[in-house]
Amino acid sequence: MSDAFTDKIAIVTGGTSGIGYAVAEELLKRGATVWVIGSRKESVEKAKAAFAAYRNARFAAVDVTVADEVKGMIDACVKKDGRLDYLFNNAGIGMTYPTRHLTLDMWKKAIDLNLWGVVYGVHFALPVMLAQKSGHIVNTSSIAGIIAPPSQAVYCATKYAVTGMTEALRYEFFDEGIRFSTVCPANVATAIFTGTEIPKDAIPASEAAQIILSGVEKKESLIIFPEFVKKTYERFLADPALKERFMLEYARRRNAGWARGVPYLSFPEDLLEMKP
Ligand SMILES: NC(=O)c1ccc[n+]([C@@H]2O[C@H](COP(=O)([O-])OP(=O)(O)OC[C@H]3O[C@@H](n4cnc5c(N)ncnc54)[C@H](OP(=O)(O)O)[C@@H]3O)[C@@H](O)[C@H]2O)c1
Repeated sequence: MSDAFTDKIAIVTGGTSGIGYAVAEELLKRGATVWVIGSRKESVEKAKAAFAAYRNARFAAVDVTVADEVKGMIDACVKKDGRLDYLFNNAGIGMTYPTRHLTLDMWKKAIDLNLWGVVYGVHFALPVMLAQKSGHIVNTSSIAGIIAPPSQAVYCATKYAVTGMTEALRYEFFDEGIRFSTVCPANVATAIFTGTEIPKDAIPASEAAQIILSGVEKKESLIIFPEFVKKTYERFLADPALKERFMLEYARRRNAGWARGVPYLSFPEDLLEMKP
C-alpha cells in the first residue's frame, strides 16, 4: 500500500487502454478511487468488465476534445467523491508520418486531442484543486516532447506544448500546494502501434505505470523513461553536436523506411556510438 495513493481520488483519461489502463490498474491496487475514462462506450464497457473486482473503480465515456464533456467529468467526480487529488491527462494519439503527406485534418486531430484535451483538463481541475489547496496534475507528453524525432512534426508540436505548459504551471502554482508532472515515455507496447509492428525497444505498459507512479509519488517534474533514453536526453543536453549528428542519421533512417514502405519506429540507440 502506498500512502501517496491510498484513499485518494484520481481521474485517468485514456484509462481504457495502454499506459492509462496500466496506471489506472496500479492506482486501484494501491487503494485509490479511480475514474477510468475512454472516449468510446465499448472501450469503457471493456474496462468496466476487466476492473469488475475493484469497488473503487468508476467509469465514464468522455471525449476530452470537448470542453463541456471534460467539465462534466470533473464535476461528476467532485460531486460523487468530494474532491480530486490526481488528474492524469493521458489520452492521446500518436502520429509518426512524413510531414509532406500530412493533411490539415491530421494536424487538427492531433492538436485537438493531445493538446486541447490536456488544456481542458487543467482548466477545469485547477479551480477544484486551488479550493482544496492540494492536488497533482500529471500530463502525458512523450520523449517527443523533449527531443524532436524526424517525421513527428505534428506530434512534437503537441507534446512540446504539453511539456512547456506543464513546467510553467508547476512553478506558478507550487506555493498554492498544486503539483504538476510531465510524463515523457519513449516506446511503450500499446495500441498506439496498431497497424504497425511494435518497436523492439518498447517496454510493457505495466512497467511504464510503475515508473510513472514512482515519479508522481516523488513529485518529479519530468518523468522520462526508459533509463537508456533518459541518459540519451541528458547526453544531448551536454553535447549538442552529438545530438545534431544523431538526429540527422535518425531522419535518414526514417526517410529510408518510408521509401521502403516499412516505418522505422525504434529509438536508434546504436547511433550514440557514432564518431564525429
Ligand atoms: N505508447 C507509446 O509508445 C507512447 C510513447 C510516448 C507517449 N505516449 C503517450 O501516452 C498516452 C497514452 O498512449 P497509449 O500508448 O497508452 O495509447 P492507447 O493504448 O492507444 O490508448 C489511448 C487511450 O486514449 C483514449 N482516447 C483516445 N481518444 C480520446 C478522446 N478523444 N477522449 C478521451 N479519451 C480518448 C482511448 O480510449 P478510446 O479508445 O475509448 O477512445 C484510450 O484509452 C498518449 O498521450 C500518447 O501520446 C505513448
